[in-house]
Amino acid sequence: MRVLVLNGPNLNLLGERETGIYGSETLDRVNDRIRTRADELGIEVAFEQSNHEGTLIDLIQEHREWDAMILNAAGYTHTSVALADAIAGVALPTVEVHISDVYAREPFRHHSYIEAVAMLTIVGHGTDGYIEALEAIHERLGSG
Ligand code: DQA
Repeated sequence: MRVLVLNGPNLNLLGERETGIYGSETLDRVNDRIRTRADELGIEVAFEQSNHEGTLIDLIQEHREWDAMILNAAGYTHTSVALADAIAGVALPTVEVHISDVYAREPFRHHSYIEAVAMLTIVGHGTDGYIEALEAIHERLGSG
């Protein structure tokens, strides 16, 4: 089983960006933890991050033969019909993750275009949400 872990804009600055909201763990560290858990579950993982909407869409299309995706679309969550269309278009099973509890924040963060095309959304569990997403994919889609 192959799972793409895709992070959107500004998540490359995890660990230094608004640490009161997103914590002090870097993206590399989060990805290391995901890889450790993926190894335990026998899942192949690839990690990608981009600050650009079109690049995120290209990456989704390029991985359309993969088994699942963990996606934190960051700010594009709340704005991008194109990203939601990409996910629907390739029918890649997707778990949406948000580190912070978006529903407890500003109203413009309460709507997600991704949610409608995701099999599951995990919000507000910090970076552990990525591990939970991987475990949910393993549980629901099998270890291949
Ligand atoms: C985020 C929440 C978004 O509203 C925000 O734009 C982000 C990160 C999260 O992980 O909590 O960049 O997706």
